[in-house]
Amino acid sequence: MENKIKKAIFPIAGLGSRFLPATKTLAKEMLIVLDRPILEWAVIEASRSGIEEMIFVTSSKKNSIIEHFNRSLELENLLKKKKKSSQIISVQSQSALGQFTYVIQDEPKGLGHAVWCAKRFIEKNENFVVILPDDIILSKNPVIGQMIEIHKKTGGGSVLALEKVPKREVFKYGVIDFHKKSNNFYQIKNLVEKPEPSKAPSNLTVVGRYILNYKVFDLLDKHKKGHGNEIQLTDSLISLIKEPGLFGLEFDGNRYDCGNKLGFIEANVKFGLNDKNISKDLKKLLKKI
Ligand code: G1P
Repeated sequence: MENKIKKAIFPIAGLGSRFLPATKTLAKEMLIVLDRPILEWAVIEASRSGIEEMIFVTSSKKNSIIEHFNRSLELENLLKKKKKSSQIISVQSQSALGQFTYVIQDEPKGLGHAVWCAKRFIEKNENFVVILPDDIILSKNPVIGQMIEIHKKTGGGSVLALEKVPKREVFKYGVIDFHKKSNNFYQIKNLVEKPEPSKAPSNLTVVGRYILNYKVFDLLDKHKKGHGNEIQLTDSLISLIKEPGLFGLEFDGNRYDCGNKLGFIEANVKFGLNDKNISKDLKKLLKKI
């Protein structure tokens, strides 16, 4: 079942209610970390990992996303007149990150439903990636790339990115149960979506990066509701355990959960500290605060 992984699905139809009122008209994924939208950081990670086709499962109210990944000749001409050549390159780079496809998710019925909406773009037996852009991950090697290595080593297995969290926080995540472990690598035997800490099988949680196989649609096709009365992606992953196998990788890198205010601000500070143009002044500013 091993073949080159070329497609990534980005479920981005959510309301972004944690960021209201900003998200009344602005898509949550377009909120800015340093100098580009949250979503662009995720697309850059995919592109650096060799993904060629970006499939956005979005809502009809988020047209700014389509515009952002298109070229804007008007803006380019304006920058050309003003001789701002480095800025021309920066506004041209988005459309070069891959080929973009858009699917509309009519109602927010859960993450599993969002992924199912993109089913027609995935071929039978094809392996593909799912990226939840709320999780921005800073790492030397892109996390999707790290996971593709595991996918290859396991002869085409499905792979989830994992992170250990304090047990009291497991109720926010998909949590795995596993057979065996070597270093940062797990063979998954079961999963639970957002369990109560006392019922959680472990404190290893699923982060927003998945390598899946077309087989996952066997269960998603059933539209069965799970936690929170929504169709959960986590519940459908069970269909991958036997074939092609389901594995977990505690990745090398730091995750910033931009789905909440604190994580979003932390990401901005961290990206600012990594930016050589503002890092020194930002450090001074942070000390002053
Ligand atoms: C989703 C998934 C959950 C996963 C999490 C990672 O939850 O359902 O299994 O652990 O993303 O960020 P959400 O954050 O959308 O509630």
